[in-house]
Amino acid sequence: MDASIRRPKTKILVDGGDPQETLRVKSLTGAVDGQTTNPTLISKNPEVRSEVSSGHKFTSREELDEYKKIVQTISPLVGDAGVSIEVFSDFNTNAEEMFAQGKEMFSWVPNAYVKYPCTHEGLRAAQMSVDQAIRVNITLCFSQQQAAAVYAATKRSKQPVYVSPFLGRLDDRGENGMDLVANIKKMYPGDGHVHVLAASIRHLDHLLGVFALQAELATAPAKVWEEWAAKSFPLPGSDFVYEGRDQSGNRLRPIPYESLDLSRPWETFDIRHELTTKGIQQFVADYKSTLKQSA
Ligand code: E4P
Repeated sequence: MDASIRRPKTKILVDGGDPQETLRVKSLTGAVDGQTTNPTLISKNPEVRSEVSSGHKFTSREELDEYKKIVQTISPLVGDAGVSIEVFSDFNTNAEEMFAQGKEMFSWVPNAYVKYPCTHEGLRAAQMSVDQAIRVNITLCFSQQQAAAVYAATKRSKQPVYVSPFLGRLDDRGENGMDLVANIKKMYPGDGHVHVLAASIRHLDHLLGVFALQAELATAPAKVWEEWAAKSFPLPGSDFVYEGRDQSGNRLRPIPYESLDLSRPWETFDIRHELTTKGIQQFVADYKSTLKQSA
């Protein structure tokens, strides 16, 4: 590997649904550890887009086959942080249905992680999965209580579980998303079974912030990794201070730390969050936009 490419301790993941982007980042950074995908990103895949704009509407099976094809192309391009594949769920999808999808998706590639939403049913599906050695990534995490529930619900896992705090979407509503990452890192024991996968990263400062916090993994769109490479792979020094400002330069509201007991039953944590609900609604809308009306 090119010695001039400086690598953080944090694993590098590409957030996207286009293998060409993964290849581009790989050629710049020397190696990509993993990839995250979701229904929105898959609906933006160039081939899916051109099919849809030429009038083709996928059936649910065709859409799943398309997702599988994309994941199978990306899988050999990335390392042991794997490819996160998201189940299709709305508010009527129960844990058993999510788990059935997760089981199928896990068989697509040898380095799969199944993404379940951070909801009651999503966490039940995650529990069923870890009991069968299916690796999981709990997505749409916006609060420390949710991250605590992930920890408690997946205690039996023999392999790392990922939790994905979405910092950019918290920033979008004026809260300092980086505080959530910091709070989760502080709450989890250092050698715990849940690894923090910082997600919804929008710019270089976010990247440097999550490197400084030593999040185990960070997923960012190709354009952010390209910016990092263009600036010669900066890493935060010991004097690095994350400012936490919005696009107009105003300070984001701090998110206070909560002292939570991780040995509590997972169902006792308050895992409701408006942004988790909105995130699911958006994924359903993007998924449906590629489907036949009747499907
Ligand atoms: C991660 O797994 C998600 O796909 C992603 O980071 C969401 O980012 P966004 O908030 O920019 O959509």
